[in-house]
Amino acid sequence: MRFFVMLRFVTAGESHGQALIAWISGVPAGLAVDFVFVNGELHRRQLGYGRGGRQKIEKDQVEALAGIRHGQTIGAPIALRIENRDWANWEGAMAVEDMAGAEDARRPLTAPRPGHADLAGALKLNLHDARNVLERASARETAARVAAGAIAKLLLREFGCAVLSHVIAVGKARLERAASWSEIEAACANLESPLRCVDAATEAQMKNEVDAALRAGDTVGGIFEVVAHGIVAGLGSHAQWDEKLDGRLARAVMSIQSVKAVEIGAGAAAATSYGSEVQDEIRYDARRKRFTRPTNRAGGLEGGITNGEDVVVRGYQKPISTLRRALGTADLVTKQPHAAAYERSDICVVPAGGVAGEAMVALALAEAYLEKFGGDSLPETRRNFEAYQRQLDEF
Ligand SMILES: Cc1cc2nc3c(=O)[nH]c(=O)nc-3n(C[C@H](O)[C@H](O)[C@H](O)COP(=O)(O)O)c2cc1C
Repeated sequence: MRFFVMLRFVTAGESHGQALIAWISGVPAGLAVDFVFVNGELHRRQLGYGRGGRQKIEKDQVEALAGIRHGQTIGAPIALRIENRDWANWEGAMAVEDMAGAEDARRPLTAPRPGHADLAGALKLNLHDARNVLERASARETAARVAAGAIAKLLLREFGCAVLSHVIAVGKARLERAASWSEIEAACANLESPLRCVDAATEAQMKNEVDAALRAGDTVGGIFEVVAHGIVAGLGSHAQWDEKLDGRLARAVMSIQSVKAVEIGAGAAAATSYGSEVQDEIRYDARRKRFTRPTNRAGGLEGGITNGEDVVVRGYQKPISTLRRALGTADLVTKQPHAAAYERSDICVVPAGGVAGEAMVALALAEAYLEKFGGDSLPETRRNFEAYQRQLDEF
């Protein structure tokens, strides 16, 4: 276990409750918080072909409750709030205080959806209504992660690092080539892009996969790839298991709802290839005074430490578990066979999963920057960073 964590972040809030909250502690004082950027990130999370009706209701906007004054962080815990507009339709069901007629208003869920947290959570909490479980398990929570991640991205930007993502697979449609950073930037800038894929022909196939799932009353998963560009070499550590940055990134991305596998760089394919096909040879660029690699199959990490190449992390998302053509389940109360519950739901969430992935990667990397460079105020952090850059120049 890690006893002292530089950057801490937690969230609170139910899917149909009043609001989501993100709490972040450890951000140095003096970071300018651009709320247009933060809200833009929240908007990006709401996009994507195959989303359900909820995204038409919500127009996520962040409200800062603490830790920011006159547009800058003050070195105190930051609290952010995102209102749930849908709360208006759930005020009775999700009322905080007990109320008359509470039993009728509850909107219980007793037919657990296979693949969702409903059954496991109901058993854990000894509930015969899974509502309390699913309200919190819901990936609506990723809005709070994205808000916190936006603060982390603003911090990383101070050190020349940017984090973006693109979609490399939806169902059986897969991008079969690598994407350049400029292609990923262009795909992210295009808010009209249905699935944030860098290749138009592949994106059309991906849309077909979503359409087929929609017609069948089914859902479809996929893979997003998060890339951190401009990252400094030497973050993380080889020295202790819980300091290894690859492990911390894997945990951060695996924690996103519906992610079932994480890859770094060549990932699973490396295990079935030869060493000569996997390792990245080392060169030296005298002009930049930096070691470079002609390839980046390591995904920017060796020994749990960044090597200066882009960090590349992929999240594999299973198809979501609320199906219009409901699967079979057993009722929590009667124990009788039943069709699994259906609540207004997405069909494909891979582009949104990627935005959540960016947030989690940005938070993990921001923490790694703060571990290496410290600093209570941004000028102090920057001074330490610049001294390290000089060390690399003189290496
Ligand atoms: C952005 C995003 C949106 C999601 N939307 C839905 C949804 O509408 N319906 C659903 O059943 N699951 C949805 N999920 C997945 C569930 O939240 C997730 O499967 C569930 O919490 C159980 O967790 P697990 O799949 O990680 O085991 C979504 C996931 C993400 C990342």
